[in-house]
Parts: sequence; structure tokens; C-alpha cells
Amino acid sequence: DFQYPHTFILLGASGDLAKKKIYPTIWYLYRDNLLPRHTKFVGYARTKQTISEVQEKCKKYLKVRPGEEEKLKEFWAANEYFAGSYDKRIDYEMLNQLISKFEKGPVANRIFYLAVPPTVFEDVTVNIRNACVSIKGFTRVIIEKPFGRDDESSDKLSNHLAGLFKEEQIYRIDHYLGKEMVQNLMTIRFANQIFSPSWNRENIASVLISFKEPFGTEGRGGYFDDFGIIRDVMQNHLLQILSLVAMEKPVTLNPNDIRDEKVKVLRHIKPIELNDILVGQYVGNPDGKGEEKLGYLEDPTVPKDSVTPTYALAGLHINNARWQGVPFVLRCGKALNERKAEVRIQYKDVPGDIFEGHAKRNELVIRVQPGEALYLKLMSKSPGMKFDLVETELDLTYSMRYREADVPDAYERLILDVFTGTQMHFVRNDELKEAWRIFTPVLKALEEKKIKPVPYVYGSRGPPAADSKLSSYDFKYTGSYKWQKPTLS
Ligand code: BG6
Repeated sequence: DFQYPHTFILLGASGDLAKKKIYPTIWYLYRDNLLPRHTKFVGYARTKQTISEVQEKCKKYLKVRPGEEEKLKEFWAANEYFAGSYDKRIDYEMLNQLISKFEKGPVANRIFYLAVPPTVFEDVTVNIRNACVSIKGFTRVIIEKPFGRDDESSDKLSNHLAGLFKEEQIYRIDHYLGKEMVQNLMTIRFANQIFSPSWNRENIASVLISFKEPFGTEGRGGYFDDFGIIRDVMQNHLLQILSLVAMEKPVTLNPNDIRDEKVKVLRHIKPIELNDILVGQYVGNPDGKGEEKLGYLEDPTVPKDSVTPTYALAGLHINNARWQGVPFVLRCGKALNERKAEVRIQYKDVPGDIFEGHAKRNELVIRVQPGEALYLKLMSKSPGMKFDLVETELDLTYSMRYREADVPDAYERLILDVFTGTQMHFVRNDELKEAWRIFTPVLKALEEKKIKPVPYVYGSRGPPAADSKLSSYDFKYTGSYKWQKPTLS
């Protein structure tokens, strides 16, 4: 005689995001006993299918280790699937009846995950509000980008949501906030006296936050072409990282205290101007293999004359006492030479040089992926008889230092946060508003003027012009240092 105090309802259960990401994530949480006991899962979508068909579709994305087969059976047994339309209230009333059937106890909480296309977003949220809110517990909704495509459409969506739910009920996912090293930023900054006092314009020359991916749109061109890399990665993931790197120390670790500081620093940033951005678009590499041969415009789902950027580099300026004059460069691109996301804090040159210009700048590198690492590039005397300088590092590489640690996936962490009601790693309404304020004018200018992106070859480091643009923001790249992956002796 089970009671089900929690129900997790996945809307859009037949879609791509559901099968590739959300079902696997809730399975891992279930497998590791991280969810409240007897959580019920309900999938909802238009497609008429049974739960075993859902199971079949998810199969290749769910990792199951030997010995976990029983647990997996148990997981699917806790799952239901219900087919209904997104716009008819009656279907949601039936969904509500199905959920209620399992809610025998005195408390019943509901979490709705909206893995649905933006076109049905408003219908879905209205219907949840009208027919599916919990009457004996909390109702929380998790939503994913796109949160509009500019300031106006985003405001419209925010107002719509605010009319239905309280801000405490809304969990806007930016999955970069669920990544280990992004969550570590506050600790690195505020728990180390060595960094705190030098984290400012007196000592730091520039900050580079970058995201690289080694593949192109791969059939997602239809979605991507309407958004472009600035909306897809820069306006959300990279700007979120920037606010954590640049914000003042929050009053406490309370989620709203933290988000207050994030909003505050964003408010000091003026909207980006056209001459502060460089955009690129990849072209095929004739010598490449498979997909690499194809440029963005050769994706059949992309219009032939598209000027949508797949690469962007933008310089932002924070006009406050800590950062005035320090460029923050955001750089992101698809179809590049590697997968990497990192933050580089580059310190100024040492004043009063006695090393005849041989001392290179210190750099604190926070590698988000792949392979979490934190290292500080510094100068040292070359070991031995000589009195030369060498570039070296203090290195904290997670795979070496924390061999047993299991770094959870961003989605696992974030979904669990929704169960426990922690909004620290979710985007608040006012943060989103500031993000659009900063980016909307330049997005509009690029679109209205049909600015042609600079071509770069699939698999390259990006448009060559990006390097000179980067150095114009006082970021020095000498190419003389290469981080070595530490090896076990
Ligand atoms: C998503 C973007 O938000 O982030 C994708 O829409 C991108 O285009 C992805 O590929 C990158 O996420 P991750 O976790 O693989 O770095």
C-alpha cells in the first residue's frame, strides 16, 4: 500500500530531449536512491504509445550497469504514460485524475518538466495551472530555453508565467549552472584569501570565457537557424558564468542573496554594440571526413542565404568600481577543433620588470569541461644551473586529485534541486531580463543589417580575425604554454 508523495510529470515525453536526457537523468537519480522514496513518474505527450514503447525508445540512452536490471524494472514500473493534446483542458483533467490516483497520502507534491516546443508553451502552462496543480503539496515547473528570442518576447513569456505561478514555483534551467566547475566558482573566489583581494581591475587585465564544440548543427539546423550561437550559448551559458565570475560577494549563500548579486553585476553592463562583436559561420573542410565536409549552409534544414552566426566573440564592459576598464570576452562556436569550456582570468604584466620581458602573464584557468581542472599559470626559475624563467603551473586536475569522486551530470543535480526546492542554480526572472537587455540591440542590429558572418573552416580554431579581436581586448595569447595532462607515475 504505497503512498506517492511526489509525482514527476514529464510533458513532451515522446520527444528528443525526453528520451536522450530526461528519462536517463531520472533513471540515474532513481538508481542512486537520490529521489524521495516512491516517486511516481508520468510521461505526457501527443503520441499514442504505451510505457513499454517509451522504454524501448529510451533504451539506447539509459546506461545500465551489470546487476542493475532489477532496479531498472522497478524504475519502469514506477512510470506511467498518458497521451493527450497540449491545448485541451479536458486532457489535462484526465491527466490530473491519473496523477491523483497515486496520491493516497496526506501530502502530494508535483513537479512538471516542460520538454515541449516553445509553440505550445503557453497552452501547456495555462492548462497545468487550470487542471493539474497539486491541492495537498507543492507544484513546481521546470522550463528550458528558449525563453523568448529577444527582450520583448521574453517579457511576454515572463508575464504569462507570472500570471500563473509564483517565482518560487518556476525553475528556469540553464544547465551550465549544474556543472561542477561553474558551481565551484563561488568557492574559489570567496573561500580563498589569495584570490579575493586580487580579483579586480588593479590586478586583472582581462577575462575570457569560452565555449567550443567540435561538431556543427547535425540536423538541428531548423531550430538553430532561428536562434544562432549568441542566443544558443552566449546570452545564457556564458553570461551566467560571467555573472558568477564578476559579481560581488553575496550577503549569504541564500539563493536569493546570490541571485541579487548576479543581477546587480549585469545591471552594470551596457548593451553590446556592433563593433564589440565578431560573428562567424562555418564552411566545409574539403579535406575533412564525413560531416566536416559540409558547411552550415549545406545543412538541408538551413536556408541557403542564412546569416545566422555559428561563432561569436563579444567584448563586454562592466562599469563598476571593481571592473571598470577590464574587458570580459565571451567566445563561443560550433564546428571547431575541440570540445572545451573554460574561464581564463588573465592577470596584468608585472610592473617594474627585471626579467627583460621574459615574464609571461599569470593566468587562472577554470576548466569546466572536458575533465574538470583548476590551474594557475605562473613563472618559475628553470630547474637546474640556469637562471632562466619557465612557464609552469599549480595544477588541480580533478581526475588526479579526486580519483574516486563521481562528478554528477548537470541535469541530475538540477532536477534533484527541484525536488529539494533549491533555486540557487536556476535563473531568476530579473536575471533573464538583464540578459536580454544586454543582447537584444546587437541581435537586432545583426539581423536588420544582415551582417555577413566571417567564414571559418569546420574543425579549425575559428575565424582568424577572432585572434586579433581578442588581443584588442588586452588578452595576450603567446602560444608558448601548453597544459600537460598529468600522468600517473
Ligand atoms: C545547449 C545548446 O544549451 O548546450 C547546444 O543548445 C549545445 O547547442 C549544448 O550543444 C552544450 O552543452 P554541453 O553540456 O554539452 O556543453
